[in-house]
Amino acid sequence: MTYLLKGGLIVDPLEEKVEQLDLLVAGDRVAAMAPGLQAPEAEVILVDGCYVLPGLIDMHCHLREPGDELKETILTGTRAAARGGFTGVVAMGNTRPPADNRSVIEFIKRQAEAGIVPVYPVGCATKGRRGEELSEIGDLFEAGAVALSDDGSSIASGEVLRHVLEYSRMFDLVVISHCEDQDLSAGGLMHEGFNSTLLGLRGIPAAAEEVHVARDLILSEMTGARLHIAHVSTAGSVRLIREAKQRGVRVTAEATPHHLCLTDEAVRSYDTNTKVNPPLRSGQDVAALREGLRDGTIDAIATDHAPHTREEKEVEFNLAPCGISGLETAVPLVWEHLVEPGILTPVQVAQKMAWNPARIIGLPERRIGVGGAANLTVIDPRLKLPVIVEQFASLGKNTPFAGWELRGWPVMTVISGRIAMQTRATPASSDASIGTLRGVS
Ligand code: DOR
Repeated sequence: MTYLLKGGLIVDPLEEKVEQLDLLVAGDRVAAMAPGLQAPEAEVILVDGCYVLPGLIDMHCHLREPGDELKETILTGTRAAARGGFTGVVAMGNTRPPADNRSVIEFIKRQAEAGIVPVYPVGCATKGRRGEELSEIGDLFEAGAVALSDDGSSIASGEVLRHVLEYSRMFDLVVISHCEDQDLSAGGLMHEGFNSTLLGLRGIPAAAEEVHVARDLILSEMTGARLHIAHVSTAGSVRLIREAKQRGVRVTAEATPHHLCLTDEAVRSYDTNTKVNPPLRSGQDVAALREGLRDGTIDAIATDHAPHTREEKEVEFNLAPCGISGLETAVPLVWEHLVEPGILTPVQVAQKMAWNPARIIGLPERRIGVGGAANLTVIDPRLKLPVIVEQFASLGKNTPFAGWELRGWPVMTVISGRIAMQTRATPASSDASIGTLRGVS
């Protein structure tokens, strides 16, 4: 397949520049890049005014398979990823059974062959995610695990985490840490503060996260292992990570679109779609996360896509599971709430959602260059549309963003030259059906 993307603004995360260039894709590669390119035999796709980013990677999502296929499957989750503009997803291991052994990793990889976006599985750090005994880390690595994590829960024992970090070094695997002191968070339903008092819901203090962030940073420093802090949500965590980076600790960190765009005010609706772990925090926390993103303390934006069924979410607040279905709203949330107000540039979006995730996970470089693999995400900054949950490809319809009018939608997802999603819409058409998946039934 040969096609010519005409008039796009090509974003380079390494050289930190944006240039209007035509881009010729032939097979799975970028064949040429120049202004005013002619290629008579190629299909022409007009993308003028759109940003063309290296293919985005979501370095934190939950695809639920095996075990919870009513919430999501690898097929539906990767379809959601393609609709959301992602060209690769890192799947957490809190499945049933958990991905704590070779056969589950191999199963996920096999199922992913039918998915439309590459899936990079994370192996559990400990057996059964119980935080007691190390998984067979060498086996997980050989089977194709790209990172280690007990995400969904923390590792309570510092001693166990120390050994995970030490073993991870042998394979240069990054350890992704879900930071939560489960004694401090026990029974908590939302952020501890004014709103939890007002609503009469038990709070989770910021310290529940920060105590573990501090501990994990110290253990990373002690062992020299690579640590990545998942879903950072508090100002104190940002400060601790910033200081650790200044000391040279090998730490990276991510924040989610929901923690960057919502505060605990949203919980006042009692909408269970605002129930998430870590919880939505205060305005000061959101401001600190945004500053951390801007100054490089937070390296990545990751969705923590956590689909749940309607039945599970349509219950009393205290009974609902935590999580937000995030793959299909991440890009326009980032564009509308971070790029439009000038907090992030398009170059920084490419860094936080493509370049850095690839670097942290150890995937090939995410950059658009002649001869390189054609992994692309095209974003139309003029396209303004509401979030329509019914159009989600994800089985998880649990989003607090339903009906939000957002600008800056992904309009094309290209994976190794293959167009996995293309929106046939013009900025003027308000009823655009975002994310028509190509080549999938
Ligand atoms: O809200 C969340 N949901 N946070 C997590 O850490 C896990 C996730 C899930 O698996 O549902």
